[in-house]
Amino acid sequence: MSEAPLLEVRNVAKAYGRGKRRHEVLKNINITLNEGEVLGIIGESGCGKSVLLNLISCLEPVSGGQLFFKGQEYTGKKPKDVCRWFQVIFQDSEAAFDPKMTIRESMHENLKLLAEGTKNANQRIEDMVSMMGLATELADRYPRQLSGGQVQRMAIARGLVTEPNMILCDEITSALDVSAQAMILQYLYELRKKRGLTMMFVSHDMALCATFCDRMAIMKDGEIVEIGTPEQIMDHPQHEYTKLLLDAVLYTR
Ligand SMILES: Nc1ncnc2c1ncn2[C@@H]1O[C@H](COP(=O)(O)OP(=O)(O)OP(=O)(O)O)[C@@H](O)[C@H]1O
Ligand SMILES: [Mg+2]
Repeated sequence: MSEAPLLEVRNVAKAYGRGKRRHEVLKNINITLNEGEVLGIIGESGCGKSVLLNLISCLEPVSGGQLFFKGQEYTGKKPKDVCRWFQVIFQDSEAAFDPKMTIRESMHENLKLLAEGTKNANQRIEDMVSMMGLATELADRYPRQLSGGQVQRMAIARGLVTEPNMILCDEITSALDVSAQAMILQYLYELRKKRGLTMMFVSHDMALCATFCDRMAIMKDGEIVEIGTPEQIMDHPQHEYTKLLLDAVLYTR
């Protein structure tokens, strides 16, 4: 019996503006992701990584193509219809939290999106906060009362309270120092092991992606130019652009 992949992105395109102002930012994107897989997305600034995550999570509509979750098309749905499946975690988590709400209050807002409402809400929140290695009391603070690394871990915890099938991480470690970065990756790694969480992991850091991801997609100017396992990408790059990125990694070592 063949099971449908968790996520399929089929010929997806995105353009902004009309007429002469129209500009295409994503062209013919195809991705298939199985349950439990972690896909890294690498590419230069402006190549369309964040837009791609927004399309998958229905924060923005596609201009063309189709999206499937477990074989069912969901193109055109609203974010609240898919929040059970996908949660996006952004780079600037402090900005993603309402400064006038405690972390716990923000997390309650996320839980309100679920059909079953806020049943056992506090327990769920505290479980997730502990799972990210944070003291539960920290949930009663305001975002500005936490360190950058703590806010980022709270953002992941908030993404997880709705128990999504998949998290879409947009440069979630790039604003942090190396030790805070390592800690977050360690928690994500354990989540993967414990819950088989499926992930898309946008990063500028090729070496980091190669150690953390099952497959890597290389993007350039709104297209995926190459996709493969870290070994294929790092040891046998096919595309000129991938080779260029690899040279840059070696050069900065
Ligand atoms: N709402 C919008 N309206 C018009 N253009 C947009 C909009 N959102 C994004 N773009 C354009 O789409 C392109 C891709 O943007 P995107 O934010 O996905 O880049 P990125 O790969 O995430 O870059 P970075 O690594 O800097 O975060 C950019 O040229 C950007 O200017
Ligand atoms: Mg971005």
